[in-house]
Amino acid sequence: MNTNKFIFCLVHLLCSLLKISALTYSITTSQSLNDDETLVSEGGSFELGFFSPGSSKDRYLGIWYKNIPIRTVVWVANRQNPIKDLSGKLMINRTSSLLLSDGNNSVVWSTKPLNGGQDPILQLLDSANLVLRDNKDGNVDVYLWQSFDYPSDTLLPGMKLGWDLRTGLKRGLSSWKNFDDPSPGTLSSGIELDEYPQAVMWKGSRKFFRGGPWNGLRFSGAPELRLNPVFEFEFVSNQDEVYYIYQLMNKSVITRLILNETTSSRQRYVWVEADQSWKLYASVPRDYCDDYAFCGANGICSISDSPVCKCLEGFKPKSAQSWNAMDWSQGCIRNEPLDCQRKHDFIKFSGLKVPDTEHSWVNKSMNLKECREMCLKNCSCNAYTNSDIRGRGSGCALWFGNLVDIRQFSDNGQELYIRMPASKGDRPPPVKVVVIIVASIAAVCVMLLVSYCVCRRKMKSEGEFGDNISEGPKEDLDLPLFNLATISHATDNFSVKKKLGEGGFGPVYKGTLEDGQNIAVKTLSKNSGQGLNEFKNEVKLIAKLQHRNLVKLLGCCIEDGEKILIYEYLPNGSLDSFVFDRSRGKLLDWSKRFNIICGVARGILYLHQDSRLRIIHRDLKASNVLLDKELNPKISDFGMATTFGGDESGETTKRVVGTYGYMAPEYAFYGLFSVKSDVFSFGILLLEILSGKKNRGFTHPQNQNLIGYAWRLWTEGRPLELIDSLLEDSAIQPEILRCIHIALLCVQQSPEDRPTMSSAVLMLNGESTLPQPKHPGFLIDLIPGETGPSSSNKDPCSANYFSITSLEPR
Ligand SMILES: *[C@@H]1O[C@H](CO)[C@@H](O)[C@H](O)[C@H]1NC(C)=O
Ligand SMILES: *[C@@H]1O[C@H](CO)[C@@H](O)[C@H](O)[C@H]1NC(C)=O
Ligand SMILES: *[C@@H]1O[C@H](CO)[C@@H](O)[C@H](O)[C@H]1NC(C)=O
Ligand SMILES: *[C@@H]1O[C@H](CO)[C@@H](O)[C@H](O)[C@H]1NC(C)=O
Ligand SMILES: *[C@@H]1O[C@H](CO)[C@@H](O)[C@H](O)[C@H]1NC(C)=O
Ligand SMILES: *[C@@H]1O[C@H](CO)[C@@H](O)[C@H](O)[C@H]1NC(C)=O
Repeated sequence: MNTNKFIFCLVHLLCSLLKISALTYSITTSQSLNDDETLVSEGGSFELGFFSPGSSKDRYLGIWYKNIPIRTVVWVANRQNPIKDLSGKLMINRTSSLLLSDGNNSVVWSTKPLNGGQDPILQLLDSANLVLRDNKDGNVDVYLWQSFDYPSDTLLPGMKLGWDLRTGLKRGLSSWKNFDDPSPGTLSSGIELDEYPQAVMWKGSRKFFRGGPWNGLRFSGAPELRLNPVFEFEFVSNQDEVYYIYQLMNKSVITRLILNETTSSRQRYVWVEADQSWKLYASVPRDYCDDYAFCGANGICSISDSPVCKCLEGFKPKSAQSWNAMDWSQGCIRNEPLDCQRKHDFIKFSGLKVPDTEHSWVNKSMNLKECREMCLKNCSCNAYTNSDIRGRGSGCALWFGNLVDIRQFSDNGQELYIRMPASKGDRPPPVKVVVIIVASIAAVCVMLLVSYCVCRRKMKSEGEFGDNISEGPKEDLDLPLFNLATISHATDNFSVKKKLGEGGFGPVYKGTLEDGQNIAVKTLSKNSGQGLNEFKNEVKLIAKLQHRNLVKLLGCCIEDGEKILIYEYLPNGSLDSFVFDRSRGKLLDWSKRFNIICGVARGILYLHQDSRLRIIHRDLKASNVLLDKELNPKISDFGMATTFGGDESGETTKRVVGTYGYMAPEYAFYGLFSVKSDVFSFGILLLEILSGKKNRGFTHPQNQNLIGYAWRLWTEGRPLELIDSLLEDSAIQPEILRCIHIALLCVQQSPEDRPTMSSAVLMLNGESTLPQPKHPGFLIDLIPGETGPSSSNKDPCSANYFSITSLEPR
């Protein structure tokens, strides 16, 4: 037995040695790469070799992911010149050109000859960049040539999309013709070098979709591009270079952006290890309004309106007839032509994707006022705005001629000032002196009167405003203020023995007031992310919320820079200490768990709908559900809650808060949150309560997480196997089945498919029929599969395993 094992191991060892030694990591002038050989990147992520796409027999030289079983080609050398047989050969010649030749020694693809390079060496980097560098040159980051300068249809992390102005090199993407043919199709994408450079996608030579100019934070037409924990992005624009680039925060995530000819779109895919498949993450164009100039010149597109096209204020359809027939392509003209001799004004529009910058002008050091003056000076200037919207805005961008391809966003749009004739009603010039004098006196009187009124009004409003900003500690928050001494006494001076745990922002202590009442004291650690604003936000929100499934806030304490919240004390602690614990878990039989599920659902429903403020919790999880004496659930921790209609500008939306494992994919990736992201978290919570297992950290022989596992059991018709073994005696089958079903509905990939909390409550009560769930969201797949490589049944010889693993919360 043991000898057998030993021999087995030995064979494997030999086998892996052999295989590794057969891998090629670089090519020099004396070597070549033949059709049956491949060049592997050092970390083993990518592979360069010959392949035949789709059903074609033609051979191409390309780069693909080495560890993804579905052959996914990210770069092709001889896109337009296939080799007809297996005689292809890649070499480096004496002037450091890469040469790809066929059996007749005719060159099908080559790179430009170079002077540099005594000892050129070709290597594939782990980023998928194929680079030619001089082996004599100690600096390994200097390349004679690199494939990243000549992208195919795929933009990978670390690739630049745009221009090197010093050499005139333009890096753009172009789609494959079809699955069988990598030669350039009709779709291309890149950066248009206007005065104000913009991202554009073309179909043939026609503009097809415009990402728009970079406004300091994002492309104007890409409101979904936000700070997110998966990738960071940057736009560089200076004398030397103009490009967009993105980098992964965690290199273990596999994602790519491609131009897809079949769907005429630019798509982002993410590799999901558990499913062994690529998942479509995002796609543009998204809707009609993304079609270039859908509403014609001076029209504005708003997808939530009907019809979607409108003329800008002060404009009318060029042809009313075709406009009314829903043909908007002719666009709009001014109600009355601009008279350059007259005075002009500007109307401010908000929430826009700014117009095409083909006829634009930019000065990065001007301010908005100078910008306006500049625009007024030239009669064909029709609009202006800040070229950079970071902070309070800076720089100046002007638009000349028609304003094309404007759309309205509900979120993350920009401001634009559009030129209009000054409001009418100018007094005709008076003829008689007497009239002038009388008029002047009258005017002076009126002005005095008006300024008196304005002053009074202003003083009054300043007073009101002043009240608002003078936020002293004694601010009236409609709830009791405790003083620090009381709290300190109640908690034995914040003794370690009284510590209940560590919350998201700092430690939580148990306290006992003079009258014997128990309280929970949440102190906010000074280095917690939560500033005074967030603290006040939390206090004000929670103070207004009264529901039996929400933890009650008794008061707060703001003193000496301390920020402390005082809550009702719940003796049973949080749900996670029951559900994930084998012995305490027994205390929660099915009827208790069902009661908890329904209670949590009602609590969230209240937050979403019934409370005066509509609130998204954003960090719903088992440890944020507390249990009272009767094991009734109460939701806690609204520190991160954000109301609709509140101050959504500034930092709130830029910061993604929440806990991986519970976060909906659209939230984790793009920071897009909605009531539906709470619904997603609720779905996860449901699965955890039902199974007694954590979504995060759950491992299964087949390298699946809890959602993947639940989904598989569901599709295989044995959902009940998910259930916590502790529930076997108390389970009520139809209720359990319904809960699993609802959970899967809540974690669906697309937010639109997920039910609202009110329908989830109806479903739980059995008052509603349940649709079939679609495929669940997958970000949660980015959770470590500890059993990953060792237990999977992959070829033991392959040198490297590649798996999407965890994204750790900071
Ligand atoms: C190397 O190949 C390039 C491209 O075909 C060619 O222009 C150049 O002359 C070749 N150099 C030598 C020394 O043959
Ligand atoms: C080589 O050249 C011959 C004659 O020009 C042609 O028939 C044959 O197809 C070529 N072979 C390859 C591999 O290109
Ligand atoms: C293009 O999109 C379709 C539909 O989403 C997809 O099936 C296909 O795989 C995509 N093509 C590529 C090259 O990814
Ligand atoms: C941009 O504006 C600044 C400040 O008004 C001015 O000094 C500078 O000359 C302008 N640059 C160009 C290119 O117009
Ligand atoms: C106004 O701007 C346009 C576009 O930049 C330019 O062609 C034109 O000469 C300018 N006119 C004046 C009077 O400056
Ligand atoms: C990135 O993924 C690796 C696993 O490949 C994991 O060990 C690591 O903690 C992750 N790092 C971050 C910052 O999330």
